Amino acid sequence: MTAAVYAFPQDMLRAAMLGAELGLDVQEIALHRFPDGESLVRVPVPAALDALLYRSLDDPNAKLVELLLAGATLRENGSRRVVLIAPYLAYMRQDIAFHPGEAVSQRVIGQFIADAFDGCVTVDPHLHRIHDLGEVMPGIVTISLTAAPALSGALDLAQNPLVVGPDAESVQWVHAIAGPQGLDSIVGHKVRGGDREVHIEFDEPARIAGRNVVLVDDVISSGATLAVAARVLRAAGARRIEALATHCLASAADLAGLKEAGIERVRSTDSIPGPTAEMALAPLLARGIREKELLKWHTHPS
Ligand code: R5P
Repeated sequence: MTAAVYAFPQDMLRAAMLGAELGLDVQEIALHRFPDGESLVRVPVPAALDALLYRSLDDPNAKLVELLLAGATLRENGSRRVVLIAPYLAYMRQDIAFHPGEAVSQRVIGQFIADAFDGCVTVDPHLHRIHDLGEVMPGIVTISLTAAPALSGALDLAQNPLVVGPDAESVQWVHAIAGPQGLDSIVGHKVRGGDREVHIEFDEPARIAGRNVVLVDDVISSGATLAVAARVLRAAGARRIEALATHCLASAADLAGLKEAGIERVRSTDSIPGPTAEMALAPLLARGIREKELLKWHTHPS
């Protein structure tokens, strides 16, 4: 077998969609978590020469260790190259030490992935001060895709929405989503006081009154950012508020909080399974993998 997609049980459905797009077999990796928290990983053998290891990195701590075990075991059982397909890539937000002694998680986890894999494919990683995923994962092939066209295509143009980013870090997504459709957009100023404590202001509240608003962001984590943004928008006279994000990590309680804040509907890609996951990423991932010719490696060994 020259190439195959490998996935843990939780990701099998979405890995199967990717396998179907690429015309590849999808193999399940067995996983057992012991009562003491350790994980036992078993890969199907023999392993394909080119292994695409699919795993989204929400809830990342145990998953990173399991990926390390799976990647090494695929190599021990025949894989010459192992590429991580992580539609959601964790630990990308901490890109500097904000206080002395803080770990720069983006750099440490990026190096960990670069040491364990030959490539990494992901979607909308949170790169704020760094623009190229290759800088974070030196020496391996990196493919950083964007879901912005899919999110832009999900806008209801009949509503002539005002596209709103909650903070400076959302600017790139606001432009990529509003721009192609020629829609109005504004971006807020956010100050974060804690995990769930944020303050947001918009410069020209008069532009919000009476508008149907679509809030856009790369990631919804606790939901605090969008909940506060929605409250400020409502106070400024917004009519209807929806939200679109590439990744939605929010729990059921956090999603209920968004509704309470006045957001009628939240939609995201299926990078993380859940009630908001409406847009399948498999076609985008497959296109990126084909364009970088990752599957031609076995005929052109380096
Ligand atoms: C930060 O800049 C990100 O783009 C998101 O706005 C943020 O991570 C969302 O986190 P939360 O939902 O916890 O406010």
